[in-house]
Amino acid sequence: MPILLTGVAGFIGRAVAKALLMRGESVIGIDSLNAYYDPRLKQARLDSLAHYANFRFAQLDLSDPAQIRHFALTEGLSSGASDKISIIHLAAQAGVRHSLVAPFDYAAANLVGQLTMLEWARDLPNLQHFVYASSSSVYGGNRKIPFAPEDATDRPQSLYAATKKSGEHLAYCYSHLFHFPVTGLRFFTVYGPWGRPDMAAWLFTEAILAGRPLKLFNHGAMRRDFTFIDDIVSGVVAALDRPPPPDSEGVRQKIYNLGHDQPVTLRQFVATLEQKIGRPAEIIEAAMEPGDVVATWANIDQARRDLGFDPKTTLEHGISQFVDWYRDYILRS
Ligand SMILES: NC(=O)c1ccc[n+]([C@@H]2O[C@H](COP(=O)([O-])OP(=O)(O)OC[C@H]3O[C@@H](n4cnc5c(N)ncnc54)[C@H](O)[C@@H]3O)[C@@H](O)[C@H]2O)c1
Repeated sequence: MPILLTGVAGFIGRAVAKALLMRGESVIGIDSLNAYYDPRLKQARLDSLAHYANFRFAQLDLSDPAQIRHFALTEGLSSGASDKISIIHLAAQAGVRHSLVAPFDYAAANLVGQLTMLEWARDLPNLQHFVYASSSSVYGGNRKIPFAPEDATDRPQSLYAATKKSGEHLAYCYSHLFHFPVTGLRFFTVYGPWGRPDMAAWLFTEAILAGRPLKLFNHGAMRRDFTFIDDIVSGVVAALDRPPPPDSEGVRQKIYNLGHDQPVTLRQFVATLEQKIGRPAEIIEAAMEPGDVVATWANIDQARRDLGFDPKTTLEHGISQFVDWYRDYILRS
């Protein structure tokens, strides 16, 4: 059964694709390879998948529905398709702070892109499951921790969060109207090898290795439920394999938190990096930025129960894997 995987050149997309290819699935990967961060990293991620015979890549922009319709038709992946197929939709414009400066990129990728994929799903007669990425940021102004999937998510604190929440509404609506199973996954601050250059692990490692000062917002007191990439991948694959049964209203849709359930302060995160790298960080204290939330912490009871989700990677092990990968990647590029 082929799996359509969007955002395949991204951090999480590459890792999910690899896990699926390793268990023998056919993956059709889609990505626009946009320049939000260095496209050479995206290309390197794709290169790391190229040796799998069951992997195909198409460079497409999900904010252009006509381009996607044309691809679906020419590839036989539309209403006439007889094969069973699943979709894992991870492509998005990520980043909380950047949403303050490039709002329309978020509307294009996260609103139009989500709708484009749901329209595609609607057209596939043998769609098995539509799995998509949401985010812990949807909890926004929710003060009750840990965050549980049924907690209030109606006070987004950034445009990024608002678009991810809107994506959940669109997905629910399509599942309700067109009767296909849909699972949304709220990821909590993912880190690990092949990570994103705009995220803490990369920025802090780069600064410590270069002997440059690093900025700690909110004086390092913010807490994040850092979750290692391998644990996220296990959660995504487990979700893919378990389309939700109908709920009390007959709608086959579910939302899970995928987090580590062990939040740490940014200061602790930096201390773990310092220990692994063997150098102290030079820290610049900074106030909190607009759009940031003070703490994230995932209640993962439902993911444990329904998906067997069991994140095991300690921060020390995860950081060690990341720093080793980072050093190697930077040396080679
Ligand atoms: N990394 C995290 O900590 C985290 C946390 C919460 C949620 N998420 C969500 O997980 C998903 C994957 O995130 P990631 O960290 O791998 O980000 P990423 O930026 O590394 O990957 C996203 C990929 O989507 C592609 N893309 C963007 N717009 C596109 C479009 N219009 N058409 C086609 N492709 C497009 C990008 O080129 C990129 O390769 C996203 O939906 C993100 O919102 C990530």
